[in-house]
Amino acid sequence: SQAGLTDPFGRAVTYLRVSVTDRCDLRCVYCMAEDMTFLPKKDILTLEELDRLCGAFIALGTDKIRLTGGEPLVRKGVMALVRSLGARIGEGGLRELTLTTNGTQLTRMAEDLFAAGVRRINVSLDTLDPATFAAVTRWGRIEQTLDGIFAAKAAGLAIKINAVALKGVNEGEFDRMVAWCGEHGFDLCLIETMPMGEISGDRTDQYLPLSLVRSRLRRTWTLEDTDYRTGGPARYVTVKETGRRIGFITPMTHNFCESCNRVRLTCTGTLYMCLGQDDAAEFRELLRDPSVDDAGLAQAIRDAIARKPRGHDFVIDRRRNRPAVARHMSLTGG
Ligand code: GTP
Ligand code: 5AD
Ligand code: SF4
Repeated sequence: SQAGLTDPFGRAVTYLRVSVTDRCDLRCVYCMAEDMTFLPKKDILTLEELDRLCGAFIALGTDKIRLTGGEPLVRKGVMALVRSLGARIGEGGLRELTLTTNGTQLTRMAEDLFAAGVRRINVSLDTLDPATFAAVTRWGRIEQTLDGIFAAKAAGLAIKINAVALKGVNEGEFDRMVAWCGEHGFDLCLIETMPMGEISGDRTDQYLPLSLVRSRLRRTWTLEDTDYRTGGPARYVTVKETGRRIGFITPMTHNFCESCNRVRLTCTGTLYMCLGQDDAAEFRELLRDPSVDDAGLAQAIRDAIARKPRGHDFVIDRRRNRPAVARHMSLTGG
């Protein structure tokens, strides 16, 4: 078989994040502007094109694929892609096929996801308070997401709750969220907000360092070190009282780029080699060019990986409230 993908810094790239749509049924304040212009249909890869490109990555050693969005489950027909990728789980193929979702479609889709081979999902839920949820998502109803989470649990999916830590918004809730996740058997992942895309709020106001959150949690909970890893950027502790894990994703206070193993594909076929950089490689024209065969595609992927930068240079710009990266988080789904 072909050799795997290794970048100029010796990092093996084995994790592909695929944004299947830029659309979302919610508008989280740190992720999107209220009024977003979405991409025209002709620019969007078909599910077959996405599947072919994923197949090319898998042939080059990618063993983890995460579907993201926008909201991946609002893409029409997305289950066909999930099933096709699910069929690639196994020896020499994928080790894990998973999703990051806002949960709103899970009551309808959780069982199909499990049947297609998905075993674990991450669900974005920043708060347990209905009014705060409505404010963060601009119009979401928390019941819809909670119903989705419990449907996913009933379908047999392991669940990790993703919460972006927001000063003055959900910072008083983390003890309650740790307890709630413990009760229901979910892991929890806390995330520092990253400066991407023009949004309405003031990022300096929203930003909350997780070092602070962690020391506050220690007043209530016994946090034990663990070397549990998912291949994602989180560092985990186990909560002794609940037996569940808490992950911390700290791009702002503790950069984890040296162990980066991932690249991101958008639904238009643009491959971003780093979340925090603008450089990208374009695959749509290649996919639509009949003279480009699978070997040509593989070479283009290798060429892209050879450009992977060392890391991001996110900073919270306290003077100007400007994003470090202009594109919205929703284009790459985190
Ligand atoms: P697991 O497989 O459960 O470890 O998931 P994950 O953390 O890889 O994926 P998820 O979609 O749940 O992402 C959680 C958060 O991590 C999001 O806010 C992402 O933007 C962030 N994240 C993932 N990869 C990177 C990265 O390479 N750099 C930075 N700065 N953030 C990342
Ligand atoms: N900073 C950090 N995380 C973000 N997410 C969306 N926007 C941001 C941001 N600006 C998170 C979502 C979701 C994950 C894919 O990315 O909450 O859980
Ligand atoms: Fe949608 Fe997720 Fe962005 Fe919220 S964070 S607007 S749920 S893509």
